[in-house]
Amino acid sequence: MATHDDAVRARFGETAAGVAEHAARQVDRVREELREFLPLSGEERVVDSGTGAGVLALALAPLVREVVGVDLVPELLAAARAAAPANVTFVEGDATALPFEDASFDLAGSRRTLHHIARPELAVAELARVTRPGGRIFVDDQVASVDPLAALALDRFERARDPSHARTLPDIDLRHFFEANGLVAERTRFQTHRRELGGCSGEAADRARELSPGGLESYEAETGWYLLRKPRLGG
Ligand SMILES: C[S@@+](CC[C@H](N)C(=O)[O-])C[C@H]1O[C@@H](n2cnc3c(N)ncnc32)[C@H](O)[C@@H]1O
Repeated sequence: MATHDDAVRARFGETAAGVAEHAARQVDRVREELREFLPLSGEERVVDSGTGAGVLALALAPLVREVVGVDLVPELLAAARAAAPANVTFVEGDATALPFEDASFDLAGSRRTLHHIARPELAVAELARVTRPGGRIFVDDQVASVDPLAALALDRFERARDPSHARTLPDIDLRHFFEANGLVAERTRFQTHRRELGGCSGEAADRARELSPGGLESYEAETGWYLLRKPRLGG
């Protein structure tokens, strides 16, 4: 039986070249934004879970000691490797079962990935598991409305244009996942962006336009950034 991970592999495998091109254009801007948001000493070992073509990993590379990016999709990892400096490696793996020892990173990050994962609570638990006590977790993802009907409508629209979409989580669900893993929120940032309806063509595009929460050409998305600390003493 085809799984959700198969849908992710199919979707991102097919679109890898475009995703990689888009990723390359974002790295410098993301680095400047992260420089202000993340407290970094330069000595960190970092994992980027659901790295795709490596935006977060490549943005952090000059600011930390080492970065490892993990993703399900070999085509994206190949593109990421082609752009990687010496302190960054990319490995194939599942964000819900990371191929690393407990407490093996100073910082565990995930950018724009949780909404593609059928069991995002497992991915958050894995970020917490591989982070050392006293280390930090960074999550960036789109957040859904607190109104459950609006959140369902957003998911219906997102799935119409991308079958690998699972669920956009509202802020409160993300915070419950963090809390369930004993993580303490240190800093958050919320921003709204207007997004074009690109990403699909033909019938899928027509259906997506019909379901768009913001009209035929674009819609408004809210993204949340969360910086969390894993306490030294477990609760
Ligand atoms: C929207 S892309 C974001 C990629 C990248 N983090 C960025 O900021 O550009 C979502 C990524 O999640 C990956 N992904 C989805 N489910 C995954 C899983 N279970 N394990 C690892 N990666 C996964 C996809 O392959 C894809 O690269």
